[in-house]
Amino acid sequence: MRRVFERVLAAMAVLAAVASAAQAGPTLTRADRRDGQDLSGTWNYSVDPYRDGVAGFHRGPPGTGHRRYDDSDVEQVTRADPKALYEYDMQRSPTATLPASWLTHAPEMRHYQGLVWYQRRFDAAALKPGQRAFLRFEAANYTAKVYLNGKTAGEHEGGFTPFSLEVTSLLRAGQNQVTVGVDSTPAVDGAPPPVTDWETYGGITRPVRLVITPETFVDDAWVRLTRDGKTIAADVRLDGSAAAGQAVSVKVAGLNLTLSGQAGADGVAKLTAPAPKGLRRWAPGAPVLYDVRVEAGDDVLTDRVGFRTVEVRGGDILVNGKPVFLRGICLHEEELGENPARTITEASAHALLAEARDGLHANFVRLAHYPHSEVTTRLADEMGLLVWSEIPIYWLVDFGNARTLKLARDMQADAIRRDRNRASIVLWSVANETPVSEARNAFLGTLADDVRALDDTRLVTAALLADRKIEGGRQLMGVDDPLAAKLDVLAVNTYAGWYSDDSLDAVAKIAWRPTDKPLVFSEFGADALAGFSDPALMRKFSEDFQARYYVQTLAMAANAPSLRGMSPWILKDFRSPRRQHPVYQQGWNRKGLISPTGRRKAAFKVLADYYEKLAGEGR
Ligand code: GCU
Repeated sequence: MRRVFERVLAAMAVLAAVASAAQAGPTLTRADRRDGQDLSGTWNYSVDPYRDGVAGFHRGPPGTGHRRYDDSDVEQVTRADPKALYEYDMQRSPTATLPASWLTHAPEMRHYQGLVWYQRRFDAAALKPGQRAFLRFEAANYTAKVYLNGKTAGEHEGGFTPFSLEVTSLLRAGQNQVTVGVDSTPAVDGAPPPVTDWETYGGITRPVRLVITPETFVDDAWVRLTRDGKTIAADVRLDGSAAAGQAVSVKVAGLNLTLSGQAGADGVAKLTAPAPKGLRRWAPGAPVLYDVRVEAGDDVLTDRVGFRTVEVRGGDILVNGKPVFLRGICLHEEELGENPARTITEASAHALLAEARDGLHANFVRLAHYPHSEVTTRLADEMGLLVWSEIPIYWLVDFGNARTLKLARDMQADAIRRDRNRASIVLWSVANETPVSEARNAFLGTLADDVRALDDTRLVTAALLADRKIEGGRQLMGVDDPLAAKLDVLAVNTYAGWYSDDSLDAVAKIAWRPTDKPLVFSEFGADALAGFSDPALMRKFSEDFQARYYVQTLAMAANAPSLRGMSPWILKDFRSPRRQHPVYQQGWNRKGLISPTGRRKAAFKVLADYYEKLAGEGR
């Protein structure tokens, strides 16, 4: 009876997950390959720390002379009516090049947090009958209110996932004016929480596009090799009034394969075909990608997709049926340079991923602690790196709050729908270092169920806190977390020897309890200021300490029988307002193996040699 009850509960969880994954608006994957125009470039910006453009001084609606988003040219209006009072003028405000966080717009913006208004004008052709128009943002941190030609287009919360707002009825032939109010203030019940260990890069940090589509278009096409490796499957979701019953085809020219069918009443076509014998699997070191062309009605959507399987078998992680050891490194989304703006281009992403793959001999990157730019995940596909993708359920989130849970579920669904064609992604992480509680277990358990409902081809994980027990006189570390039951791969952040008073000699002797699932060290690390050497005292923050810490922690790794991978914290020093030692940190977390400008520290070679040896052994 109990087993029946458990099965009913499990089925209800998946149904709830699927229900929650119901989509708010269009996904518009591959927006960069659709018709329309890239609105990156010069925008005017105006700071608004007291949110004067949102509410008047008695908290009523903002007055005419304060509404940054009004469809008006202030200079013209005030010339025509000298009595008019305006306390803003977007067209004559300073300019900046987007996408980029506002921290680098001007020296006085370096520490600005709050609301900034952006505006630009652009020309658009008249829409043809039936065409539709969307404003698509790849990311704006943290909330965004969008207006087109003085009218509300919509809003969004969450700084790391894309959103699309339909503006068919607002777009006009000729000149248009788009205004965006971006507020970096974290919500106390949002994700990530107000306190993190990274800089809040406020602003429009990823590209903005005007996307033009047919009335019914291919919104999302998930094309993959099924988990058993036997079938090519394509779930194609159409958006538009003619979606139901629409004929759909998916062509993979390199496989001489066409999947055809019809969309159901829900606008989704689920197509399958046996995997052709000649299929060449995507894998680290052999990143084979195929051009995919999806056609439905007047619309064509293209993508480049790799086909591979990933699974857990016993205590191993297998890619294409072969056990792998994840030779990884963690990355924040922050480009090389003294003054990063979280502006990720193909070149800036390549510089970082190449340092991981070619410098460290890594086959894996943990993209912490939020969904990184699509530029990065597509590049990981091309470069043959395995990827851990994560949503910012980080430290202390308001786990008992229904609004927070809905936000987290939407964030995760948006991240998965954007990236589930990326062969490089093998792990979806639902959290990082969250304190155990009933509410947290339920919250994260729901997220784990959602992942499985949205994508049954990848593994679920989370970065947990390790626990330490003394057994038989020995220090034994391990995982003792109720969430483990919901995960495929267990992961722990372990900092023995940095955030503990263990001597570095003692670290090498710490042993780990075996786990019934594969274990990954999702973080370990120590700070070092590049160039600070202290061989005599081996003080913390010296390169000597950091190198020794790595030698000893890698020795400890040999004492973890279930270990199947690691992603030390972190490739590059990154900005964190919590790190203010005036000599060693100056607002930077210095656990990078390279400095902000890419100078390799002594510990870099320790890890690179270790991975090179593992690679040589075929691990
Ligand atoms: C934690 C956390 C990181 C943080 C790191 C550190 O494990 O996950 O976000 O930066 O430790 O303290 O440096």
